[in-house]
Amino acid sequence: MSVRIITGDCRNIVPALEPFDCILTDPPYGETSCKWDRRVAGWPALVRPLLKSTGSMWVFGSLRFFMETASEFLDAGWRLSQDVIWEKQNGSGFMADRFRRVHEQAVLFYRDDAPWSGVYKLPQVTNDAKARRVRRQVGPAHTGIIGANVFESEEGGPRLMRSVMYVRNGHRQGTGHATPKPEELLEPLLRYSCPPGGRVLDPFGGSGSTGLVADRLGLDCTLIEADPATSALAADRLARVGGMFATMAAE
Ligand SMILES: C[S@@+](CC[C@H](N)C(=O)[O-])C[C@H]1O[C@@H](n2cnc3c(N)ncnc32)[C@H](O)[C@@H]1O
Repeated sequence: MSVRIITGDCRNIVPALEPFDCILTDPPYGETSCKWDRRVAGWPALVRPLLKSTGSMWVFGSLRFFMETASEFLDAGWRLSQDVIWEKQNGSGFMADRFRRVHEQAVLFYRDDAPWSGVYKLPQVTNDAKARRVRRQVGPAHTGIIGANVFESEEGGPRLMRSVMYVRNGHRQGTGHATPKPEELLEPLLRYSCPPGGRVLDPFGGSGSTGLVADRLGLDCTLIEADPATSALAADRLARVGGMFATMAAE
């Protein structure tokens, strides 16, 4: 298994790629003054044919980003499954007249021609349950049918991971990128959505956080990054941990 880093605009590269089991990406939200932070129109439609019908796609963003680009996802045939919140220790203080924003979202999509029941998923757990006995209700179809049964948890046993994840952000982790995503945050998302030994695509690879986690989990990963200096950061980070990787430029 290995990480392939392709330098170039994902819109030119994606059409030539082979299918993937999972997509995990952190596209430009279009909300900062960073030179690269310009929304890339059309990418949700471009990547959709590359995802296997059993696959799913995690996309990082803000509520503003998702609301303003919702039609790009819906028109391209993506259906929303769930979202998780990344809570971080410090915020992006763009607006002094609002609450200090200390969270971002990751939204999971799947293909609208594929049933959710057929999508690969491995629920993630933490081992900190409190002992209790719960009678479950039958849920609405879109959340998956849960039978009316009794569920018992043991003290310190497994329970489903919470959808709000507190992880310190990576600004001091030496990534060299202005907005890196912490590996600790990406790991449960990848474990949830990518089968063992599967193939992951990150079309906005940045400093390679997805590649680092994929490498550690034994997954095959393709990162695309438009800026050559940033894809060099990804290669450096992978080299530092002894990751297996190859770099290539778009033709
Ligand atoms: C939010 S950052 C990703 C950061 C990454 N998650 C990390 O942990 O380092 C988005 C990245 O997309 C890149 N980018 C912007 N437009 C692109 C395009 N059209 N094709 C490929 N990469 C692009 C930017 O250079 C930037 O590094």
